[in-house]
Amino acid sequence: MTIESHVEALLKKMTLAEKIGQMWQVNGAAPEHKELVRKGAIGSILNIQGAEAAEFQRLAREESRLGIPLLLGRDVIHGFRTILPIPLGQAASFHPELVRQGAHNAAREATSCGINWTFAPMVDIARDPRWGRIAESCGEDPFLAACMGAAMVEGFQGEDLARPESLAACAKHYVAYGAAEGGRDYNTTLVPEGTLRDVYMPPFQACVKAGVASIMSAFNDLNGVPASGHEFALRQVLKGEWAFDGLVVSDWAAIQEMLVHGFCADSRDAAAAALKAGVDMEMVSTCYVEHLKKLVQDRKLPMALVDDAVRRILRLKLRLGLFDAKHAPPAAPESVLLCEKHLATAKELAVQSCVLLKNDDGLLPLRKTIQKIAVIGTLADSGADQMGCWAMDGVGKDSRTILAALRETFGAAAVTFSPGLATPRAAADPNLLRQAARAAHHADLAVLVLGEEAVLSGEAHCRAFLDLPGDQMKLVEAVVAAGKPVVAIVFTGRPLILGPLAEKVNALYVAWHPGTMGGPALADLLTARAAPSARLPASFPRTVGQVPTYYARKNTGRPAAENARAGVPLGTPLDPKDFVTGYVDADSAPEFPFGYGLTYTTFVYSKLELSAPKIRLGKTLTVTAVISNTGRRTGTEVVQLYVRDFVGSTTRPVRELKAFRRVSMEPGEHRTVTFTLHTDDLGFHNREMKRVTEPGRFQLWVAPDATCRVKTTAEFEVTK
Ligand code: GLC
Repeated sequence: MTIESHVEALLKKMTLAEKIGQMWQVNGAAPEHKELVRKGAIGSILNIQGAEAAEFQRLAREESRLGIPLLLGRDVIHGFRTILPIPLGQAASFHPELVRQGAHNAAREATSCGINWTFAPMVDIARDPRWGRIAESCGEDPFLAACMGAAMVEGFQGEDLARPESLAACAKHYVAYGAAEGGRDYNTTLVPEGTLRDVYMPPFQACVKAGVASIMSAFNDLNGVPASGHEFALRQVLKGEWAFDGLVVSDWAAIQEMLVHGFCADSRDAAAAALKAGVDMEMVSTCYVEHLKKLVQDRKLPMALVDDAVRRILRLKLRLGLFDAKHAPPAAPESVLLCEKHLATAKELAVQSCVLLKNDDGLLPLRKTIQKIAVIGTLADSGADQMGCWAMDGVGKDSRTILAALRETFGAAAVTFSPGLATPRAAADPNLLRQAARAAHHADLAVLVLGEEAVLSGEAHCRAFLDLPGDQMKLVEAVVAAGKPVVAIVFTGRPLILGPLAEKVNALYVAWHPGTMGGPALADLLTARAAPSARLPASFPRTVGQVPTYYARKNTGRPAAENARAGVPLGTPLDPKDFVTGYVDADSAPEFPFGYGLTYTTFVYSKLELSAPKIRLGKTLTVTAVISNTGRRTGTEVVQLYVRDFVGSTTRPVRELKAFRRVSMEPGEHRTVTFTLHTDDLGFHNREMKRVTEPGRFQLWVAPDATCRVKTTAEFEVTK
């Protein structure tokens, strides 16, 4: 029997009440849920696992009339018990294959505890670092987010959803949730359709193409319509144009919240709006179970809409093999949770996620002369903070901290520890500052661990300021004044304003929240047992006043010079030649651009060649450049391909990332890197909302970051 025929056969047997029951997801193992499961009145439960999950699954299979199993969901966002770097950090790796492996390992751990559905990957494009959920995202760029989201889907779901270690994935939060005004979570989003289709939707489409099992509708109202009632986004685009045949689950009570939005008058109205829009399963709130039966019986809603939703739910359960009694049990938890293989991948992902932003005089990797180290800052030994937001099943004590890893590397006696501040957000305490400065003075090197605790990012945890919290900069000044070299390591769930810090310290790493193995990863990076290769997945602003700042901006009619400096000298006469976009009191460029990151060697880009100066629509251009490792160490370069479309029927970004390639090279090695660019890759949605590539003049760059300050650039033409 095929899955589809099994779906139809089941559907025929189901009562309306049982159908509606499948469309409800409840939270936790409340006693009353048992009777509801027996009655077939629940289709899914989130946040249960282990013995509880097994018992509820048994009840569903053995004591309900039709024996339809449950979807058991959990937020396995970046690891389960072995916590990986936050997704923003994983995106910095520009290494989809490694990210896929991390997701696969997370799936093995979660399924060993009875979970069969994760609410990940989160693929919201995030261009506002004030937004707390940028931490869960893959950054500002649609191409990078699409690559990473698809990799996570493949990692979670594997080759076959029916395999015991496969976890159904859920791309979220559909759609444009990250465009929240003011960077305030859940806030209004106003996004023109062209931008929706060219920026916010592509990562979701990539996940659909990767076979994602489900999509989660978001909290935000999009152009006046809440995402969970958005017929255009859900039914016209997702289920229509993209032919998505998986299920749509609302975010937590997002259907009920359409009343609060003022979009629905009551929960009956919300039930009708959400079902018409295309939400198949309601998370936690009860609009569906309270109203759908009567809405259908009163012919206010066609049974066909209920049937479509239930088909999608049953289809996923069948694809997961949940009906198959032979469903081989997943691995036992004790054999996979925190296993060596998973810890090794977590460490490698952390190594490849940490972005080196400064390394004066090649301080790093540390020379053998560095024997005594003063580690300063409470985040150096905070296992819980190291895991970051959404580390649901992570345990802080499992984390290998930076302090512990450096003591293991250099010997406990060689590594001192000072808090520096009472907490990462504390006001300066002169005694603690003095203690930290003294520790630095008596050491060969200070390792300052700064930044955000985990709680400062994630859902509903947005910041109006992007500076290092508390009096951390006072601690930096006190430690730098001790006169020894200082390496700063910044834990963060978002781009921060790091210019003032970068000015003062000798070397600077952004480690995001690096997860369980963050300490050993950083110890390896500091001592050349590993080398940095990560690149920024989001622009780091110079000041919060620049936000939103992202590289794929429009040129405007009055662009400033790329490296225009701010400032209006006293007495400067008003001169129209100075009337360009920008600020009088800050540069326009970010502090650190998208795609930027240093390595322990140097690379030179040269010899750009195009297969032709012109290509016809429908053809492919081959682009090659020679990358040379001109330093003394092996290194991995993330070579990036950016393209600009000079003239379009709507204005086009000054640059867009179209490809990237990680190349590892020995000192002195030269490598020819080849990219192929099809004219379809240059497409965008025109004013008629048709995705087209328009003939005309283009420019491309093979570059190390989005500033594209390279000679490996050339123009080419697309012809009809
Ligand atoms: C939360 C989040 C969503 C999560 C869901 C279930 O509110 O918005 O990302 O998957 O509820 O925990």
